[in-house]
Amino acid sequence: MPVLRQVRERFAAQRPLEGLRIAACLHVTAETAALMRALLAGGAQVGLCAANPLSTRDDVAAALAEVEGAAVFARRGEAPEEALDELVAWRPQLTLDDGADLIVALHEADALEDYLGGLEETTTGLVRLRALAAAGALHRPVLAVNEARSERVFNDRYGTGQSALDGIVRATNMLLAGRTLVVLGYGPTGQGVAQRARGAGAVVVVCEIDPVRALEARMEGYEVMPALAAAERGDVFVTVTGVRDVLRAEHFQVMKDGAVLANAGHFDVEISLGELRALAIEPPVELIPLVEEYRLEDGRRLHLLTGGRVVNLAAGEGHPAEVMDISFAGQALAAEYLAGDGAALPAGVQPVPDGLDVEVARLKLEALGVRLDALSADQQAYREGWTPPVAAPSPAPGSAP
Ligand SMILES: NC(=O)c1ccc[n+]([C@@H]2O[C@H](COP(=O)([O-])OP(=O)(O)OC[C@H]3O[C@@H](n4cnc5c(N)ncnc54)[C@H](O)[C@@H]3O)[C@@H](O)[C@H]2O)c1
Repeated sequence: MPVLRQVRERFAAQRPLEGLRIAACLHVTAETAALMRALLAGGAQVGLCAANPLSTRDDVAAALAEVEGAAVFARRGEAPEEALDELVAWRPQLTLDDGADLIVALHEADALEDYLGGLEETTTGLVRLRALAAAGALHRPVLAVNEARSERVFNDRYGTGQSALDGIVRATNMLLAGRTLVVLGYGPTGQGVAQRARGAGAVVVVCEIDPVRALEARMEGYEVMPALAAAERGDVFVTVTGVRDVLRAEHFQVMKDGAVLANAGHFDVEISLGELRALAIEPPVELIPLVEEYRLEDGRRLHLLTGGRVVNLAAGEGHPAEVMDISFAGQALAAEYLAGDGAALPAGVQPVPDGLDVEVARLKLEALGVRLDALSADQQAYREGWTPPVAAPSPAPGSAP
């Protein structure tokens, strides 16, 4: 993670987070550990709990606690509620969230006396925080790191796109070429899944409710249709909507025998597990780890991956380190900003300053050895001015070229 390493080295020299208590509720993975190390290098005390109990790497949690001195409240498979209470009691000044659980818990416990604000890294968390703000109950600024330009493109499209498919393939060892893969939701995340599935040779069908995104999918060359029509066609289904019950009884009833159901959305609500259980004639059987078979009355079998939990983390290792390098370097810089000028922002969900995003992309390009052009002073003035360009005089007729 060369970008984050550069940030960490600067932090170690400048100590911009000296003495701050920073708590994070993130996936406890090796990449998250690299972010925690950057914050520690910046002088912060760091506390960490798991945003999803299935993604916790116990070795990483132990190393962070024992070697790096972070306060870690995470163990694979353990429910996160108690750990959240521990972090709230720790009275963090800054928070890093993936799903807003920690910010919401701090607000619910009215533990805001030292709290400056937070960062939120996923769409679902931002939806919750905006709802909290609309109810007049969000009392600190929260930077929408998920909506930074670099984040939407690299993390959601390329990161989730690849890692969601990787999770499905790891869990099932299936060949995607020639299969029909249905993507439900064509946001940046769904776009990534669709793009990578097509690259692996799948026939991709997209289901959307937003006309602009549906049109975009169609113009990208995918088949677009309602979920009920796609339910009959698909071999593999991937939900990435941020909405509940996107696949439910009416869809299960018409799916093919052996259809695979996976969710890459944040919460395990996108595939209606209640309706799937109700339709099944017996409790599900674990065919192989992470794959449950639900048998229906007419003999068809539906295969649910990772219990409907986020498939790229529960069956794989989440986003590749290169992607998290960009995301987490952005978060380290956002934490620095929030510890300084950003603390004066009004309460509510706030955009990440554009300069910070540009800085991350610049560092990443540098790490990749990619150079780019810059505008000349004349071009810059032209771009920002309002006067029409002065045309160069045309040569007189008959004059030498
Ligand atoms: N697995 C991961 O690593 C990962 C990474 C990033 C985001 N996410 C999660 O994935 C989800 C989607 O994220 P996003 O950033 O693409 O969100 P988004 O809101 O930009 O896009 C979601 C899309 O789903 C569509 N949609 C909503 N309900 C639908 C329905 N019933 N049928 C079909 N389409 C529907 C919306 O119109 C929208 O275009 C969120 O829960 C987000 O938190 C997961």
